Amino acid sequence: MIDSLLITGASQLLTLRGRGPRRGAALANLGLIRDGTLLIRDRRIAAVGIRAKVEALPEARSAQKLDVGGRVVLPGFVDSHTHLIHAASRAEEYELKIAGASYQEIARKGGGILNSVKKLRAAAAEALKGRARAALRGFAAHGTTTIEAKSGYGLDVTSELKILRLHRELSAEQPLEISSTFLGAHVVPAEFRSRPDGAAEYVRLLVDRLMPEVAGERLAEFCDVFCDRGAFTREQSREILEAGKRRGLAARIHAEQLTRSGATQLAVKLGAASCDHLEQVNRADIAALGKSNTVATLLPGCDFHLGLKQYAPARSLIEAGAIVGLATDYNPGTSPTLSMAMILSLACSQLRMTPAEGITAATINGAYALRREKEVGSLEVGKLADLAVFDVEDYREIPYYFGVNRCWMTMKSGEVIWKAG
Ligand code: NIG
Ligand code: FE
Repeated sequence: MIDSLLITGASQLLTLRGRGPRRGAALANLGLIRDGTLLIRDRRIAAVGIRAKVEALPEARSAQKLDVGGRVVLPGFVDSHTHLIHAASRAEEYELKIAGASYQEIARKGGGILNSVKKLRAAAAEALKGRARAALRGFAAHGTTTIEAKSGYGLDVTSELKILRLHRELSAEQPLEISSTFLGAHVVPAEFRSRPDGAAEYVRLLVDRLMPEVAGERLAEFCDVFCDRGAFTREQSREILEAGKRRGLAARIHAEQLTRSGATQLAVKLGAASCDHLEQVNRADIAALGKSNTVATLLPGCDFHLGLKQYAPARSLIEAGAIVGLATDYNPGTSPTLSMAMILSLACSQLRMTPAEGITAATINGAYALRREKEVGSLEVGKLADLAVFDVEDYREIPYYFGVNRCWMTMKSGEVIWKAG
């Protein structure tokens, strides 16, 4: 029989229990228990509550004990937007951006996403896998236990399938759970740009050739589109996302990042799982998100890294009742970080979210964005024992100490997958 495990000594246990996803004032409700205690059995949470109650359970007496020494325990972060698989950094473009070139200018000259596409197509699957494995260890070391991962640096049949198959292999061979998203519609690849109807032809390739394979092999749960100037129009995005839905891929979308494209309204109409970025939303978009079940996922790492001044209007979205989420957008072009704690720091200082709102957005609301809210995102009986322990006494210190990793231990399905020191 597998021993059960009793976790004690939490200065604060953030359970995030209760109704999820969270909107409005409920976003700040962490379900905090001082000196809270957890009992874990067979990968899942068997009991949670105040120490005296949980310790009084007969099973608690025979359980293995883990004292976390007065630190803060919270659900493992659910990072609902990453571009995990890519071949290399784009540090050379970082320098161009600092010198004044915009993200769009670099992209028009064949840099940006197309630069990463060239490198990915030339890379061996094993090399991509090695880089991703190291990143996954990094996610775990920063308290993340579930991630979403998008394709989108392949943009041809072979390379897109190569990425999606890596998602599956990596999900099976290391502890973090990977939710796979097909983002063949990241941009129109170079070989289609020179043709008169290139964009339309590429959409046909996505819908008629790639999607049947992706769905047939069950390589993705979601279909995503980058709907923006220089990427895909709202009409093209609709066609792609509707085709995805017909094949069982739920929609998510890169919306209103650099320009307002109308992607948010489309996402809400399609019942998308999430609508991500949102720097350029207008009032009608905010109101529509407020009334919808589409998660408004904010990615402040992009604005920080690109040095942009206009962050997404988090406070208006919260006031409107939107299900606000936070994610890293880990990618080589706009947000090369895998630290959710850093994203929380940006959410607090730049988006004016409170630490409590940020933590909710990064856990239970992220889980909802990935349609995994019944399994992860909160510490409640029956859910997977996915948790992060931070070397702080007060949860507000998680975003407060920016740019350093205070994650002390990470547990996935009851197994310690990372421990500091
Ligand atoms: O989420 N906006 C589109 N996709 C990524 C950037 C990808 C890249 O520049 O490589 C994003 O910001
Ligand atoms: Fe992205």
